[in-house]
Amino acid sequence: MTEFRVTPWDVEGDIDYKKLIEQFGTQPITDGLIERVEALAGHVHPLLRRKIFFSHRDFDWILSLYEKGEQFALYTGRGPSGHTHLGHILPWIFTKYLQDTFGCELWFQLTDDEKFVLSPHLTIDDTISFSYENALDIIALGFDPEKTHIFSDLDYAKTMYRHALQVAKRVTFSTAKAVFGFDNSTNIGLIFFTSMQSVPAFLPSIMQKRKVPVLIPSAIDQDPHFRVTRDVAEKLGYYKPALIQSMFLPSLLGPDSKMSASKSGSAIYTVDSPKVAKKKVMNAFTGGCQSLEEQRVQGGNPNICTVYQYLYILFEESDEDLARLKERCMSGEEMCGNCKKLLAAKVSEFLKDHQAKREKARDRIDDFMLSD
Ligand code: TYM
Repeated sequence: MTEFRVTPWDVEGDIDYKKLIEQFGTQPITDGLIERVEALAGHVHPLLRRKIFFSHRDFDWILSLYEKGEQFALYTGRGPSGHTHLGHILPWIFTKYLQDTFGCELWFQLTDDEKFVLSPHLTIDDTISFSYENALDIIALGFDPEKTHIFSDLDYAKTMYRHALQVAKRVTFSTAKAVFGFDNSTNIGLIFFTSMQSVPAFLPSIMQKRKVPVLIPSAIDQDPHFRVTRDVAEKLGYYKPALIQSMFLPSLLGPDSKMSASKSGSAIYTVDSPKVAKKKVMNAFTGGCQSLEEQRVQGGNPNICTVYQYLYILFEESDEDLARLKERCMSGEEMCGNCKKLLAAKVSEFLKDHQAKREKARDRIDDFMLSD
């Protein structure tokens, strides 16, 4: 049996996403839901069409309200513990699609408080400065400045704290232990923190002084926080936030490795030069054979290949091109070197464009950021 573990702070092992849905008690994204999005939006983003967003809570409810003419708001976030990698932006790309398609307001939380209490080595000033760096990436992705509010917990604490207290008063230590696996060695900052992550799910209602439905796109690791949020929401007079949850972009080093700043080849960062990113891609784990000769005879295995997964998840929109690539790989016609070059070119193109937009974002930061 393969062991895996998914918490907001730790993702380990080879994840069985079907089992995770059962473990967490979420719902799978079905073809029926995708058809409803298509009917409403006209265009289904590949991240949904390919079921990279594979799990949800009450997404069907959000669609039903929208079908009846009720607008929903979006909420997502980032814990600024370092520079942004391609995994982090996966849910943001999808969030932008949702904003563009459904015309939603977006509340974007930067949890500099969380990363300070969590990390043994980061200072408060470090997490504040990564909040700024990460905000540049968010802005570079092209969110609508009229409809997007980015805020860091430390900067927006005066507004948020009174609502965080309302949440905290209704969550016991025993619930926090059961949901997050805390024990007596956990610092009390982290135990309180989930209250801060709940608040933006209520901010649209607080600001508009009426109940506003909220949809939270993220990877599935954030689900434990929002189980707590959903438990207290109605007690506080709000709707439970709906969730739509993605799988993880894997580490480039293979299925048993985590994306981590301490393993330099595991992730591509938005601030990596195209040259550095290319080197990481060229060293990636693939599903290829030991020798070219063997591969020509046996074919490769795209199912375990990180290069194929990066193309499938983020970098190849065309289903036909992907299917052809898969076929050529499995039949031994395609060699890993070529696939790596294809991905490296696409990643470089993305990084060049993103980094230019990221520089321009420095002058636009005030159009997006909220503070007290
Ligand atoms: P953080 O900074 O760990 O992650 C930011 C977002 O990226 C997702 N994510 C990934 N998605 C795909 N592949 C990966 N390899 C990968 N790694 C991380 C996370 O699920 C998240 O959506 N506590 C949160 C910050 C936060 C938040 C939120 C996130 C505050 N409010 C609301 C989502 C929604 C955190 O530390 O995320």
